[in-house]
Amino acid sequence: MAEYKVEYQDAGESLEVSDKHTILRGCLRDGIAQEYSCRVGMCLACCAEIVQGEVVQPAAHALTKEERERYALTCMARPQSDLILKRGIYPPSIELDQLKE
Ligand code: FES
Repeated sequence: MAEYKVEYQDAGESLEVSDKHTILRGCLRDGIAQEYSCRVGMCLACCAEIVQGEVVQPAAHALTKEERERYALTCMARPQSDLILKRGIYPPSIELDQLKE
């Protein structure tokens, strides 16, 4: 088991998260205000942009395969390296014009 540093860029917050646990679990443990709702990878409420680093998130069903490279669903994502994230950044597929197509 490895521990990684997860830093929220612009928020000045960071935490340590094991590669066996989700980022959201660590946020809840440490009192970090990461938004969430469903906690099962379906709603995107917990999404964060990956500025640097890697996660594994096979059950992030709300993201496309390409989006999983750039965004983390923190309720599903487990760190595989130190991470820098931006909270509240969502993939283009959530934009209204994308939903009309
Ligand atoms: S809380 Fe819904 S996708 Fe993470």
